[in-house]
Amino acid sequence: MILVTGGAGFIGSNFVLDWCKHSKEPLINLDKLTYAGNVNNLQSLQGNLQHTFVQGDIADQGVMADLLTKYQPRAVVHFAAESHVDRSIHGPEDFIQTNIVGTFRLLEATRAYFKTLDAKAQTAFRYLHVSTDEVYGSLKPADPAFTEKNIYEPNSPYSASKAASDHLVRAYHHTYGLPVLTTNCSNNYGPYHFPEKLIPLMIVNALAGKPLPVYGDGMQIRDWLYVTDHCSAIRRVLEAGTPGETYNVGGWNEKPNIEIVKTICALLDELRPKTDGTSYTGQISYVTDRPGHDRRYAIDATKIYQQLGWKPAETFDSGIRKTVQWYLDHADWVAQVQSGAYREWVDANYAKRAA
Ligand code: NAD
Ligand code: DAU
Repeated sequence: MILVTGGAGFIGSNFVLDWCKHSKEPLINLDKLTYAGNVNNLQSLQGNLQHTFVQGDIADQGVMADLLTKYQPRAVVHFAAESHVDRSIHGPEDFIQTNIVGTFRLLEATRAYFKTLDAKAQTAFRYLHVSTDEVYGSLKPADPAFTEKNIYEPNSPYSASKAASDHLVRAYHHTYGLPVLTTNCSNNYGPYHFPEKLIPLMIVNALAGKPLPVYGDGMQIRDWLYVTDHCSAIRRVLEAGTPGETYNVGGWNEKPNIEIVKTICALLDELRPKTDGTSYTGQISYVTDRPGHDRRYAIDATKIYQQLGWKPAETFDSGIRKTVQWYLDHADWVAQVQSGAYREWVDANYAKRAA
C-alpha cells in the first residue's frame, strides 16, 4: 500500500480519487483537515476499503511513525502543505511549521521506518515529495522556461518554505540514502479547487455577482495544468522515476491572468448567461497588486516527457471548460466550503485592496 499526506486537499483528493480509479492498491490518507482539507471531496469513496482516512498532522512524528509501522507502505506521497501565497504573506508562521518542520518530521519518521525494512523492501521503497515551480522564482518575458537545472530563487514565504522542504528532501537522499523523488509542478486547476485561488475564485464570484479582483495589471503569467494531468505525472514518477532525481511537470499553457479571467467569463456567458443579458466581464475589477508578485512562471517538462514518456491529456480549452462546468454542477460543494472562516479570509485579503 501507499501512504498519502494531504489527500483531502485540492490536488491530494484528486490524486486519491484517481489512484482508486487506476489501481487496486490500498491507500492510507493522512490529513490534518485544515481550512483547505475537505473529506467531502472523498465522498464517492465511502465504503471503499481501498481507502483509509486518518486525521493527523505530519508534524506529529509519533503519529507518522505509528502509521508507517502499522501499515508498512511501499511509498509515501507527500502533498500536505500550506499552499496559498496570499495567506503566506498575511501570516507565514503556519507555512514554516507545516511545510518545513512538518516535512522534516515526516522525513525523520520515514528514515526510521526505512531502516527497519529488509533489503528488497528498501530497494522498492519511494518517498515522493510534491513541490512547485515557484521555488525557481520569477521569469522575464524572454527567459526560457524553468528546467530542473534552474537555481532556486523563491520570492514569497510560501515558495521559500517549499524550497526549504525540497532541500531537506534532497539532503535525506544524499546523506541517508532515502530513495526520494521530487516533482516541481506549475499551477493546477480543476475540480475541488478551494475558491481562494484565481480560477475557482473567479468562477464563484462571477456566479455570485461579485467583483472579479484582478491583481495589478493582470499581465502576470502562469503555466496551467489540469489537475488529473498532475496526478498522472505523479503516478508515473512514482512508478519509473530515478531516486534522487527531480522532475518538472507542466502543461505548456502559459497565460496572462487577465486572459484566464476573460476565458472564464466567456464560458459562463455561454453556459450560464446573466438574466440581464450583460457579460460577466463587467464584473472585472483591477485591485492593488500582491506584494512581491512573481511576474511569470513557465515549466519546461521535457525531462519527464523524454525520460518517463509523460505528457498531459488535457488542453487548456478542454480543461477549463470541464472546470467551469464542474463548478456549475457542484453548487452544494461551493456553498459548503464558503463557511464563516472562508468569509473571514475574503475580508482579510480583499477589503483593504484599493480598486
Ligand atoms: P491544498 O491547500 O488544497 O491542500 C493541502 C492539504 O494539506 C489540505 O487537505 C490540508 O488539510 C492538508 N494539510 C495542511 N497542513 C497539514 C499538516 N500539518 N498535516 C497534515 N495535513 C495537512 O493544497 P494543494 O493545492 O492541493 O497542493 C498540494 C501540494 O501540491 C502542496 O504541497 C503544494 O505545494 C503543491 N503544489 C500545488 C500546486 C497548485 O497549483 N495548487 C502546484 C504545484 C505544487
Ligand atoms: O505555480 C504553482 C503554485 O500555483 C502553487 O505552488 C501554489 O500552491 C498555488 O496556490 C499557485 O500559486 P499562485 O500564486 O500562482 O496561484 P493563485 O491562484 O493564488 O494566483 C494565480 C495568479 O492570479 C497570480 O498571479 C495571482 C493572481 N490573482 C490571484 C487571486 C487569488 C489575482 O489576480 N486575483 C486573485 O484574487
